[in-house]
Order: sequence, then C-alpha cells, then structure tokens
Amino acid sequence: MQPTSPRSSRIIGTGRCLPSRVLTNFDLEKMVETTDEWITTRTGIHERRIAADNEACSDISVAAAKEALAMAKLDAKDLDGIIIGTISGDMLFPATATLVQDRLGAVNAAAMDVSAACSGFIYGLTLANAMIVSGQMNRVLVIGSEVLSKFVDWSDRATCVLFGDAAGAAVLEGCPAGEGLLATHVKSDGSLAELLCIPGGGSRQPLGPTTYLEHSHYIKMKGDGVFKWAVRAMVDAAKTVLDETGHSLADVSLVIPHQANIRIIDAVVERLEIPRERVVVNLDRYGNTSSATIPVAYDEVVREGRLEPGDLVLFTGFGAGFTWGSVLFRHSISL
Ligand SMILES: CC(C)(COP(=O)(O)OP(=O)(O)OC[C@H]1O[C@@H](n2cnc3c(N)ncnc32)[C@H](O)[C@@H]1OP(=O)(O)O)[C@@H](O)C(=O)NCCC(=O)NCCS
Repeated sequence: MQPTSPRSSRIIGTGRCLPSRVLTNFDLEKMVETTDEWITTRTGIHERRIAADNEACSDISVAAAKEALAMAKLDAKDLDGIIIGTISGDMLFPATATLVQDRLGAVNAAAMDVSAACSGFIYGLTLANAMIVSGQMNRVLVIGSEVLSKFVDWSDRATCVLFGDAAGAAVLEGCPAGEGLLATHVKSDGSLAELLCIPGGGSRQPLGPTTYLEHSHYIKMKGDGVFKWAVRAMVDAAKTVLDETGHSLADVSLVIPHQANIRIIDAVVERLEIPRERVVVNLDRYGNTSSATIPVAYDEVVREGRLEPGDLVLFTGFGAGFTWGSVLFRHSISL
C-alpha cells in the first residue's frame, strides 16, 4: 500500500554474503542425469554457491548484516528491529533473527523471521516499513537469507539444479514521506501451496522413517505450474505499486526481479515492456537463492555505482505459498 503517513523509510546500507564454494552445471552433470546445455537453456543458471557443511543461515546473515551496518555507518546497538525472510533457518525455532541479534550485539532490537519463501525480503521490507511508519521503530535491519542446499533433494534433477545459498541485507531508517519507500504491495494465495513446498518435517508429517524414505523432508515442486503463476504475479505486483504512486516504468531506473529462472524474467520483461538494460540479472552466477536474490542483486548494483540518489528502483518477486509482492522506492545511498 502507498503510505498515507507523513513518515516513510529509506534504505541506508546494504550488504551480501555468498558462500565461497561454487557448484557449476558441469559439477551437476557428475551428480544427476543432466547437462550444462539443459540447465542453461531452461533456466539461465551457470553456477551457484553452496554453503559449507558447518555454515548455516545465521552465519551468512551475520556477514551480510555487518556489511550493511558498515555502509549505513551504524552500530548494531542502534537497531530497533531485525527481520529475516527465510525458510531455511538454523533451527525450526527459535527464529534465526534472534541468533543474528545475539551475534551482532543488537541489544536493543526485537527479532523475528518471516516465512514467505522467495518473497521473504519483500515481505520483510513491507513489515519493517510499517513498523517505522507507525513510529514503533526507527532503524530496522532486513535480511533475505537462505541455505536451501540443505533442503534440496540432490537426487532430484528437476529441483537440485535451480537453487543456491546466499544472504542479502538492508538497513532501513525513518525518513519523510516522498523519500525512500514510495509503495509496498504484498499478496498471497495458499490454495497453491502444494506446487512448491517441503511437505515433511512439520506438524502435518513429522519427521520419521516414512518421511525420510519418501524424501518428503526435501523441496517438492511442480515446475510448470510455478512458472505460469510467477510471471502473472510479478507483473501484477509491479503494476500495482506503479499505479498506486502514479509512476510508469519509464520513470524507473532499475527493475530487480526475483531471480528464479531467466525465462520467467524474460516473460515479465516482455509483458511490462521494460528496456532490457534496466533489468538486473545475476542468476547465471548464483541460481535461485530464494529470499536473498533481490537484496544480493541490489547490493551488487549499489556497490557498482549503477544508481544515483533519487533514482526509482522496483523490486518484484514471488515465492512458495504462493506469496508475491513489489516495492517501489527512491534510492537513497550515495557512496
Ligand atoms: C523447472 C523448470 C526449469 C523446468 O523447465 P521445463 O521447460 O518446464 O521442463 P519440463 O518440466 O517440461 O521438463 C522437460 C523434461 O526435462 C526433464 N528434466 C527436468 N529436469 C532436468 C534436468 N535438470 N536435466 C535434464 N532434464 C531435466 C524432465 O524430466 C522432463 O522430461 P520428460 O519430458 O521426459 O518427462 C521450469 O518449469 C521452471 O523454471 N519452473 C519454475 C521453477 C521455479 O522458479 N521455482 C522456484 C520458485 S521461487
């Protein structure tokens, strides 16, 4: 929704963490019956990062958060809140955000995780913005962080080639309305939950010998159904925030779509008629890192100097649930 309050929030620092281990399509050829040619033409992905055996969601979250705090020139004690969009936290509970709060020394911050799958960062930004606009908080750290490699069935070629691990972070701070975030929009449709889920290991199918033997504690996906919905959801979400603010895509300097599949991005670009050079794509290097795709891509363009303060940026994404959403904002960082 477009804020009606005199207050808004702006992003004042960004960071990212990519695990160092690289898994290429050629590596995958040795693991399952697939080819670099199939993966490249169907998805656009060439390689992805995979966390080390002892590396968990909180580890990469802390690394990304430290970069974002440094760019924002803030101490962790300045934070009022930490929100992590994740579906691959360290433990089922407590929230990974609490582990990150402790390790950062963010002694004044509330901490929670948001489970919105690949839309987790957009949902996190929306919540953080609402907290700031309401006056309950002034500085909130939002992270999208996933270690999906530990939830992927490495014998299922239809899914294991798609995902990678990463964390991206952004620090939000209160500002006058008209600066920073101009509109946020989030939606869901749980009737589509079974198209993309981990059915086992929760209270419906608790982990046990059956779930283990059936591999139901791993990601299950009906790829074609996800594909069609993803395009429609991202296009609708992008149009909603533009319509709400009276902007057109001609006003937008960069569009950062969720990085799931190059063919999904191509379809969104075609429907929205966005000039290709204004669309950020990095999935060739990282694959689908779920809630981390958008903050990682934003941090890359920020550090590459591709944006000027005041430029309009559009995030649009979708994920399991289904969940989807968009954020339209003015870039506020000058390095
Ligand atoms: C998964 C996806 C890439 C598959 O592409 P597709 O063109 O729809 O391919 P299909 O599912 O029609 O599969 C075609 C064939 O390739 C096979 N195949 C699947 N994965 C393969 C792989 N890694 N290597 C080689 N062949 C593969 C299938 O088994 C199928 O074989 P069949 O025709 O003999 O049954 C595509 O559906 C997709 O990207 N969906 C969205 C997924 C997504 O974004 N998920 C995350 C959401 S946040």
